[in-house]
Amino acid sequence: MFPQRRMRRTRIRHIQPLLREIHLTKNDLIAPLFVDETISSPRPIESMPGQFRYPINGIAAVAAAHLKRGLRAVLLFGIPKEKDPVACSAYDEDGVVQQAVRRIKAEVPGMVVITDVCACEYTDHGHCGIVGESRNGPDLLNDPSLELMNRIAISHAECGADIVAPSCMLDGMVESLRTALDDAGFEDVLIMSYSTKFASALYGPFREAADSGFSFGDRSTYQIHYANSQEALLESQMDADEGADILMVKPAGFYLDILVRVAELGLPVAAYQVSGEYSMIKAAAERGWIKEKDMVLESLTCIKRAGADLIITYFAADVAGWLDEKQ
Ligand code: PBG
Ligand code: ZN
Repeated sequence: MFPQRRMRRTRIRHIQPLLREIHLTKNDLIAPLFVDETISSPRPIESMPGQFRYPINGIAAVAAAHLKRGLRAVLLFGIPKEKDPVACSAYDEDGVVQQAVRRIKAEVPGMVVITDVCACEYTDHGHCGIVGESRNGPDLLNDPSLELMNRIAISHAECGADIVAPSCMLDGMVESLRTALDDAGFEDVLIMSYSTKFASALYGPFREAADSGFSFGDRSTYQIHYANSQEALLESQMDADEGADILMVKPAGFYLDILVRVAELGLPVAAYQVSGEYSMIKAAAERGWIKEKDMVLESLTCIKRAGADLIITYFAADVAGWLDEKQ
């Protein structure tokens, strides 16, 4: 006790860095990328200042620039030319993500390519799979949608995707995908499951970015309510049991209590700092109310401190640059 233990000794300016527990590195980061089949030059995403949709023929260059910055992994989202009720363009061998994966793997072979496996960007109703009448009204139909996810994931694997990331929150999704991938000879393709995904207001800007807003209802019959932590844990536990290689908590910043507990399951865990978390920081920084760099580094370091092994963040390129600056 005082005066023997003086905590401020450990905070002496030049001692402090030696005692810091958490260091963010480039290996922690995954950069999301939006590939748009309908454009021929990069198009800014209004609700996410600094983020763009890229045309297919520009995507390999973007991935190459990321690799040059020291980022090792990208997470691809596609915006297709055509949408229909059953998401045919999501598993087309010449679909937008399929073409993008092939180009990145051909031109930037060192880049780890992760694909979002979901249907909401490819369905005209905007839901994450097949919808139909359930006994409780129109809803996402679980088991018919599993079949669709299998086809999407296999089509991505065929193009060279290293990791598939199912984000639809269907029951049985990981087991179904693992079996389908193995049967098709893709036992080396990892599954990073969006295992604990909350129905969140923080996805607002993404729906403009990926053109994936829904035409009826909401996602609350498949994503988890933010008030529930037992359910959140059970979801990740089940995906771990079904064979997921990497678990995920999404969004990240409001859900650190959940992240701590999911990390205890013992599998690698990714945390997704989502569009709303990005845009809130950007908006406040634009008004001069906060310092962007300080805010970003604090948010990401705290996500890592809570137990994230990987962080999916739209700030990935900025952070890579800041990490290169002299400390
Ligand atoms: C679609 C999907 C969403 C996000 C990633 N995949 C949106 C949603 O579930 O509504 C959100 C990402 C973000 O907000 O940055 N399954
Ligand atoms: Zn979806």
